[in-house]
Amino acid sequence: MITLPAELGHALAAMVARHREQDLARAAGRLTARYRQPIHEPALRSAVDVAAYAATRMPATYAAVTAALTQAAVCVPDFQPASQLDIGGGTGAAIWAATAVWPSLRHVTVVERDLAVIEFGRRLAASAVHPAVRNATWNRSEIRVDLNTSPADLITLSYVLGELPPAVRDPVVGWLAGQATTVAVIEPGTPDGHARVLAARDQLIGLGMRVAAPCPHSASCPLAGGDWCHFSARLPRTGLHRRLKSAELGFEDEKFSYVIATFAPAIPPDSRVLRHPRTRKGLVTLTLCADGVREESVSKRHGDVYRAARNVEWGDPWL
Ligand SMILES: C[S@@+](CC[C@H](N)C(=O)[O-])C[C@H]1O[C@@H](n2cnc3c(N)ncnc32)[C@H](O)[C@@H]1O
Repeated sequence: MITLPAELGHALAAMVARHREQDLARAAGRLTARYRQPIHEPALRSAVDVAAYAATRMPATYAAVTAALTQAAVCVPDFQPASQLDIGGGTGAAIWAATAVWPSLRHVTVVERDLAVIEFGRRLAASAVHPAVRNATWNRSEIRVDLNTSPADLITLSYVLGELPPAVRDPVVGWLAGQATTVAVIEPGTPDGHARVLAARDQLIGLGMRVAAPCPHSASCPLAGGDWCHFSARLPRTGLHRRLKSAELGFEDEKFSYVIATFAPAIPPDSRVLRHPRTRKGLVTLTLCADGVREESVSKRHGDVYRAARNVEWGDPWL
């Protein structure tokens, strides 16, 4: 379960409480409908939209980015970023996530076009314990290749590629590779999200980066012929979150696709678990991505490997 940092949870609850719950619920419904279509114009059109986004989506994007960056930290153990540039940063989920994974971060810049979103994110950030979040620079700007920003050790592009017009995506991704040591692209875990991640992956590899996660290699994706991969991060839902989404469960599973590409020395795993492991009495079956996608069955007679297989989860590295 990936939970918001305590101070962020409190600040978020306090800021959302400034709005009437029925207004938030209507805004949350509008946002869900808007995000079902490709979005190339501002989706958040009012202060209540921003609050509804932050209440219903920020905990989920925080969880997805944290899960993705956690895998990157395992695979690029010597990478200790001091600076982050968060492109299309919204209310700042990815800066909170990155500083949780890499407390080494000292300078954080968020690029975001919407002033109301920036104001909301800045207020949340004022509560942060980590100084890099508290002192983040919020740069109001359209995403372009000639952004007036300094290069950064880490660039995050979280749930934003799909909001850029297709013609802008390649130039922006190409520009990112020239600005960073490590680039993290996170998208919704849908076939379209995965297709955008795959296109970014190909481009970043073409520009000389290596894939650190999730792929155990930087060769062509073995799923490219129509199949796709995604991962899942579980997060708790507050009572308000549940009511705004008309949901009953006290948690949700955020599905996401991602790629982390880097110029830093990476040690990718031999393979990665691509689906929920299937466990039957004395047997665990794993779907693995290695140099191709394959099934591996591990039985009790494999001893320690069997015990490891019982504990491994969807998205984890495997031996
Ligand atoms: C779905 S939200 C994701 C926010 C955040 N990265 C997260 O993971 O929660 C997409 C954000 O990108 C911003 N955005 C979309 N297109 C943009 C553009 N062309 N220039 C600047 N910001 C943009 C939107 O205003 C919005 O805040």
